[in-house]
Amino acid sequence: MDNIFQYHSKIDKKSREALLKQDSFVIWFTGLSASGKSSIGNNLEYFLYRQGYLTFMLDGDNVRFGLNSDLGFSDSDRKENIRRVAHVAKLLMEAGIIVIVTFISPFIKDRQLARELVGQENFIEIFVDCPIDICMQRDLKGLYKKALNDEIKDFTGLSSPYERPENPHITIDSGKMSVEQAAEYIIEYLQSNNFIKIKK
Ligand code: ADX
Repeated sequence: MDNIFQYHSKIDKKSREALLKQDSFVIWFTGLSASGKSSIGNNLEYFLYRQGYLTFMLDGDNVRFGLNSDLGFSDSDRKENIRRVAHVAKLLMEAGIIVIVTFISPFIKDRQLARELVGQENFIEIFVDCPIDICMQRDLKGLYKKALNDEIKDFTGLSSPYERPENPHITIDSGKMSVEQAAEYIIEYLQSNNFIKIKK
């Protein structure tokens, strides 16, 4: 970068975490469309909110209405989609917030980039592993049907690849687990790894 210099604020992540009385980190969900990322993320966020934690959820569909409305679903647009959301997640984390990211994020390399940017110690990767036939049966948005009829191209799992995480922190078999069970499972992980403290 030419002619630009990083400015270091007196107030950093640690100071904001102390103010908010919480640790900030990024919970990154990855998985097929209709695998349950948003529902589980939402449930998790609601639980954390009731426990007094400040959170923010970045959801693929929502971010694509605003910041990323110029992007489609080619490999390079998806890469840019993840690059931008990883930066936003980092900024929110620096603000002391617990960030929940729910994007398909189909490529290992892009998720790796997000992890490196946010910092390994602050990044929890959750693979919502749902067989594609169950996602197709759910098809709440009717997108699988459209993709099978060739009305949508580059559809993840059908005409665009999904690269399964090799070593996620948590795997949720959302074909077998309910949304509530999945959220509870994640909360137990966060608690036993000292990311949060549950106030009874
Ligand atoms: S990502 O692959 O770039 O990470 P993202 O999570 O932002 O995807 O957006 C996925 C959402 O966009 C899906 O939940 C679905 O509602 C919608 N969508 C529209 N077209 C596609 C497509 N070709 N492939 C996958 N999802 C699509």
